[in-house]
Amino acid sequence: MGEIKKIAVLTSGGDAPGMNAAIRSVVRAGIKEGYEVYGVQRGYHGLLRGELEQMDTRDVSEILQRGGTMLHTARSKEFTEEAGQQKAKEILEVFGIDALIVIGGDGSFRGARDLSKLGVPVIGIPATIDNDVACSDFSIGFDTAVNTGLAAIDRIRETASSHERCSVIEVMGRNAGFIAMEVGIGCGAECVLIPEVAFDLEKDVCQQLLKGRNMGKHHFIVVLAEGAGSAVEMAKTIEEITEIETRATVLGYVQRGGSPSAYDRMIASLMGIRAVECIAQGRFNRVVIDREGRIQDMDLEEGLSMKKNIYPGSLGAVDTLF
Ligand code: F6P
Repeated sequence: MGEIKKIAVLTSGGDAPGMNAAIRSVVRAGIKEGYEVYGVQRGYHGLLRGELEQMDTRDVSEILQRGGTMLHTARSKEFTEEAGQQKAKEILEVFGIDALIVIGGDGSFRGARDLSKLGVPVIGIPATIDNDVACSDFSIGFDTAVNTGLAAIDRIRETASSHERCSVIEVMGRNAGFIAMEVGIGCGAECVLIPEVAFDLEKDVCQQLLKGRNMGKHHFIVVLAEGAGSAVEMAKTIEEITEIETRATVLGYVQRGGSPSAYDRMIASLMGIRAVECIAQGRFNRVVIDREGRIQDMDLEEGLSMKKNIYPGSLGAVDTLF
């Protein structure tokens, strides 16, 4: 690998609060390192269309505190195919890009890994509200999404309490229950339902709610991960079985927006710097991770092969605190 002169950065997959902070960090750290830094618009989709522009320090002013991504994001079917990846490599060559930083989740990293196999040096920065990038304890955006979910549920709780109702609240997370578990513990939910743990609606939810009512509870919060069912369906069944008036709320995209939390801004800033350091030190095909309280990096392929479990301590917490 010759001397690095130009690097590029893109955001890919679902947006996450803090992506902007990571872009800012990559651009500024990259320029300090002496690189020309290019921003790719619309993820791999934009890369395949040559949507690259050089960025300077001022281009990333006033974005640190903003949700979303100034580079826009997209999901690209074309890039999942070998011909698309080959075309992406050629476009990077046309622009003279020596290394690519990909800010996104596992799907985006698999794309980066495929590019690296074609000889493009890549670095991944984990950013997804789902927190399902197994090699990193935290992904950019998760902390903000959890806090946004909690703030919404605090409001729902007030109306549920006034009407003495049960509220089933569906949170995002794709196939993972990390958001649901943290939100559920944080809001004192009566039940947290996640795809990682099988449950019986009648026994584990309805009977638990009736037990709560016998203990003197006046309202009930059930937090449901989207990967474990539908809040609308579940609310109907709970009402039928328990005769407790039940309402459903799907939080949806509310959780993806908003100003990033202090934690997300901090890890995004440090991860961006670390990604540029990897390039400067000639360490390619790495993923930057937040592990055991430290920003580190590891081999991308190895990171992609890892599995992550729900923290065991949180599994029993909901019942203990019921
Ligand atoms: O991966 C982030 C996420 O918000 C998931 O929680 C959700 O399942 C998915 O993206 C929604 O994707 P889209 O933006 O394509 O609707």
